[in-house]
Amino acid sequence: MVSVPRVNRIIENPLFIEYSHKNNQAEQKRAFCKHGFDHGLAVARIAYIYLLEDKNTSLSKEVVYAAAVLHDLGRWREYETGEDHALFGADLIKPILRESGFTPGEVEVITQGIREHRLDPEGELSPLGRALAYADDWARDCRSCRSQVDCYKYSGEMDEIKS
Ligand SMILES: [Fe+2]
Ligand SMILES: [Fe+2]
Repeated sequence: MVSVPRVNRIIENPLFIEYSHKNNQAEQKRAFCKHGFDHGLAVARIAYIYLLEDKNTSLSKEVVYAAAVLHDLGRWREYETGEDHALFGADLIKPILRESGFTPGEVEVITQGIREHRLDPEGELSPLGRALAYADDWARDCRSCRSQVDCYKYSGEMDEIKS
């Protein structure tokens, strides 16, 4: 087990708590997947496993976990204004990263990954962006979802377990 003290600082940051609350409020009646802390943590674990298996990256566990727990933090704004939460969220979370002790270089890597997390993972993405984009889908249990027939993301392929 590796300690991730800066990730723990993130989740105790007042801005993280405030924006998480806004997301939870905005998604109270949402029929589709929600974007609470459980989703961020699932994405963190899956993205990190993907990167370990990829063996082609030097990203630290703290950087991957930080990006994952923060990647949807700007969702509430998309519900209010229609702005893309990946782009808005990447700027929104910068003060949280700085206050949690991440270096300017790490902030750059994390915000790029967050900006890319909705893009096609097969495209030209940074290693972190690709890991987040894959993990974002793999973190969902579409097979037993009651909203699958109405979900734009769902395809029969998603019933299959991928490892
Ligand atoms: Fe997202
Ligand atoms: Fe997500």
